[in-house]
Amino acid sequence: MAQGLDVGTMNILSARQEGDETVFVQQRNSFVEIDYSDMAEQMLTRSDVLHIRKDDQVYIVGDDALNFANIFNEETRRPMQAGILSSDEQSAIPMIKLITEQVVGEPHHHDELLFFSVPADPIDADVSTLYHQKTIESLLDDMGYSPEPINEGMAVIYSELANREFTGLGVSFGAGMTNICLAYYAVPVMKFSIARGGDWIDEKAAQATGNPVDKVTSVKEEDFALDFETDVGGIEGALSIYYDNLLDYVIENIISEVDEEDVEEGLDVPVVVTGGTSSPDGFEDLFSERLADANLPFSISDVSRADNPMYSVAQGALVAARSEEERTADRSGEQSRDTGETGAETDD
Ligand SMILES: Nc1ncnc2c1ncn2[C@@H]1O[C@H](COP(=O)(O)OP(=O)(O)OP(=O)(O)O)[C@@H](O)[C@H]1O
Ligand SMILES: [Mg+2]
Repeated sequence: MAQGLDVGTMNILSARQEGDETVFVQQRNSFVEIDYSDMAEQMLTRSDVLHIRKDDQVYIVGDDALNFANIFNEETRRPMQAGILSSDEQSAIPMIKLITEQVVGEPHHHDELLFFSVPADPIDADVSTLYHQKTIESLLDDMGYSPEPINEGMAVIYSELANREFTGLGVSFGAGMTNICLAYYAVPVMKFSIARGGDWIDEKAAQATGNPVDKVTSVKEEDFALDFETDVGGIEGALSIYYDNLLDYVIENIISEVDEEDVEEGLDVPVVVTGGTSSPDGFEDLFSERLADANLPFSISDVSRADNPMYSVAQGALVAARSEEERTADRSGEQSRDTGETGAETDD
């Protein structure tokens, strides 16, 4: 038994293997604080909403936060910002703890192996991911897991490039960040992140058009496509402009980060994109076009998008956890053969 966990700025997701099926559990990484009242009490007891009460305040976390925010006319808040724990949010740690506990559940046995995603350090922001990583690690440890960090971009390679010998460029376009990893035969040769993603697109498009960010986000998530037939001056027009700008910015940074020595000569590199921000129709075609126009120090064989952009990081973390678990089992099997033991364990 092992588990994969994607700790994202907007979504937290776990992945577990049950028979032939991979089971995912997802919650939105957000919460809302409302005043304790009889009405709140009634609504909360009638439904199984994730919440904690602290004195006269109630915190509602995960998917339900948005509904309650609308009903009580409050803003949702987020434990994470730009890929890591938010330093502006006092309640970040207790809230992310509650969401994570709900998503991963109880470990199947003590010290169950759990791989959780962490972003690479951003090259365009002066922040370190270490504090974030260590905090999540200790929360998971307290829950009875044996946690191991895995780079978000590398998780994409594990989930999407298994049939390409774990070789290629994986890019996860998330909410707070974009994570990029180039790997050869499952060995990362370049990994970095940039502190821009879906949130950045929303903020810029909102600023440009004078609309609230939430409105822009819902237009983007509902039926926006990157077909460039959209209205000049409208929200969709602004979204297209900032999508385009994000892709150019990502490619510019790939060029400046990749050391030509990193790239095996004559190799065509497959590219796979994933993450919620890669969802609109036309996304991989646009990225592919922009890559073709750029002066990259390597050639690209094809650009594809993950079948399920929201799930691939959790899935990749699970693949890594399961393969680590098998390796450990093989090693202990070998050791017991060496010492003449049977390797069979008695139930305790
Ligand atoms: N259908 C859609 N079209 C466009 N964007 C979408 C769609 N669905 C979700 N998104 C955007 O995808 C982003 C969330 O993606 P994802 O869950 O991959 O991010 P995350 O892993 O939580 O964040 P990060 O990896 O940056 O920490 C948000 O910006 C959201 O608005
Ligand atoms: Mg992510």
